[in-house]
Amino acid sequence: MSQNQLDKKSQAWSALFSEPMSELVQRYTASVFFDKRLWQADITASLAHAEMLCHQGIISKEDHNSIAKGMAQIWTEIENGSFDWKLALEDVHLNIEARLTQLVGDAGKRLHTGRSRNDQVATDVRLWLRGEIDLIIGLLSELQRALLSVAEQHTETVMPGFTHLQVAQPVSFAHHLLAYVEMFARDAERMADVRRRTNRLPLGSAALAGTGYPLDRARVAKAIGMVDAHGEPQICQNSLDGVSDRDFAMEFSAASSICMVHISRLSEELILWMSQNFGYIQLADRFTTGSSIMPQKKNPDVPELARGKTGRVVGHLMGLLTLMKGQPLAYNKDNQEDKEPLFDTVDTLKDTLRIFSDMIGGEANAQTGKKEGGLTVNAEAMELAAKKGYATATDLADYLVKKGLPFRDAHEVVAHAVKTAQTQDKDLSELPLATLQTFHAAIEQDVFECLSLVGSLNARNTLGGTAPVQVKAQIARHLARLA
Ligand code: ARG
Repeated sequence: MSQNQLDKKSQAWSALFSEPMSELVQRYTASVFFDKRLWQADITASLAHAEMLCHQGIISKEDHNSIAKGMAQIWTEIENGSFDWKLALEDVHLNIEARLTQLVGDAGKRLHTGRSRNDQVATDVRLWLRGEIDLIIGLLSELQRALLSVAEQHTETVMPGFTHLQVAQPVSFAHHLLAYVEMFARDAERMADVRRRTNRLPLGSAALAGTGYPLDRARVAKAIGMVDAHGEPQICQNSLDGVSDRDFAMEFSAASSICMVHISRLSEELILWMSQNFGYIQLADRFTTGSSIMPQKKNPDVPELARGKTGRVVGHLMGLLTLMKGQPLAYNKDNQEDKEPLFDTVDTLKDTLRIFSDMIGGEANAQTGKKEGGLTVNAEAMELAAKKGYATATDLADYLVKKGLPFRDAHEVVAHAVKTAQTQDKDLSELPLATLQTFHAAIEQDVFECLSLVGSLNARNTLGGTAPVQVKAQIARHLARLA
């Protein structure tokens, strides 16, 4: 299409059309104002396609050179903001192609040989998303490192572990944080897996059935890095599927949703821990806001918003699944609707991960390079809370089991002990030995060791348990894994 023809697209696509598109329909069908974000991927894939066309003798060397030169100029124009995006040219692909033809003439018109916008857009989105996945995996590593940097300081800081939000057993704060490290490590794994299926080449599928031109698809795949770990080109093997498959978008959206669900769980805990009734932590002021009416307030806005934003990311997953549901083969214009949810998911997830790394681990001081201003931990408040809810009751039962009682009987004995302690408003460890012995004669002086918080932590020395030796080993494992 010449520039003139393309400009007239708003009036008619080709000689076939007798009526121009209304302005409303033009606005309704256009995607350029959001899909222009794909411009780098679009140019990169076009350059690889043109190089291959030339190598295969489908276009001349001169045409290839003109295309490469024209694209270099377009790259600069878009980068410096002088590129004139036109709604009438519908999308990123037609905008760039029209400008190319304006710059280099017929060579520009030859670029689309053996290609359709259907395989073009599928390629662009995959290429763009691959880069974003790489960034997200990096941000997930950073967040894990931030959590680990706090965990390292708190392998002996005791807090109550909860089930049903009732005090259950003592755990270390480090142990609690490491649970989130596990979640974000799985998120990174999932992203790497999604990347494998994203990094496959649809180009060469053409509109839907393949093309009569002798394309070398492997050459294009290699040129844009759509290769596996062994350098083998990764190519969509069915042209109908190639142009219409959006599994990678749904999978990415699902992986992102799971990650945001993890973020929302952590957010919820940060919000609880920061409330006066817990008082376990403080967030740095820059992540909180005051109230316009209550001068004493410091609200954990950032975790609250992250918890809220989980809703939109999960919503985008529902949107994408519904978009694909029931679509017949092959390409349908419906697919243009895959972009905004993907873009918003990427933006939301990246911002959230960045802000959480900073909020938890702190920011590097420009002078010293040391991290400052992350989470402030009130170890005393945590310990006090752990002493309040009979968190060591299980330890007493285990103690009796060691003395020969069946566990169920020991459980019953301890229930009585707790009941008595409750009426006296004391912790089990605060009951005199003589009182404890009224519950069972086997109880001796050494019981106090097991009723202490530290004793309780140390006792849970199985792999994955909260004993400081175990937690330190886990921190070392994670750090080595992330190095
Ligand atoms: N803007 C379109 C999209 O995002 C590009 C593909 C258009 N293909 C077509 N046959 N109309 O899906």
